[in-house]
Amino acid sequence: MKFFVDTAHVEDIRAAVRLGVVSGVTTNPSLMAKEGRNPVEVIREIAAIVDGPISAEVIALDTDGMVKEGREWAAVAPQVVVKLPVTADGLAATKILADEGIRVNMTLVFSTNQALLAARAGAAFVSPFIGRLDDIGEDGPALVADIASVFALHGIATQIIAASIRRPLDLTAAARAGADIATVPYRVLLDALKHPLTDAGIARFMADWQAAKQ
Ligand code: E4P
Repeated sequence: MKFFVDTAHVEDIRAAVRLGVVSGVTTNPSLMAKEGRNPVEVIREIAAIVDGPISAEVIALDTDGMVKEGREWAAVAPQVVVKLPVTADGLAATKILADEGIRVNMTLVFSTNQALLAARAGAAFVSPFIGRLDDIGEDGPALVADIASVFALHGIATQIIAASIRRPLDLTAAARAGADIATVPYRVLLDALKHPLTDAGIARFMADWQAAKQ
């Protein structure tokens, strides 16, 4: 499973990239709004830092509007992936953009049928939202596992991005469920790295080393 960083905050992306584990970036309108900046400038800056796929989401909800915005996003940088909601208009827009060679990430996926339809419309990525399912007492990793098994059964190459990850445990669950990618806030990446025994181990090694030198 690869890691994408789930943010529009350029400094967090820079810091995450320094860790050496980041293969791409996802943004959404909420994350963009939090930055209070021109979204095109934000995506341009991210594209200067990250070579892998960078998802930029459209605001339009109708097919024509999605296609127009999708083409505009794709022109910003070659690694931009257009993020579209998994609706009827979104599927139609995905088909048009995919036929033009523009990669699409279908987002707000909450069922295996939605993922299957997105894949058949030509989506390069689907994004099932683990955390938002968890919020309503449903099993997010089980959805990822079901999509992964259906895609494997039918030889579908669309990649699964486990999204809406809020805790380190979600990461492990996404990996076990067969997600190709997990998109993770920078804070969760750091939390996933922490272990008290690692800190205690470093402290003891340093103390022993200093004591031996005296
Ligand atoms: C990424 O593609 C999603 O937009 C994001 O992970 C949603 O996360 P949230 O449910 O924590 O807002």
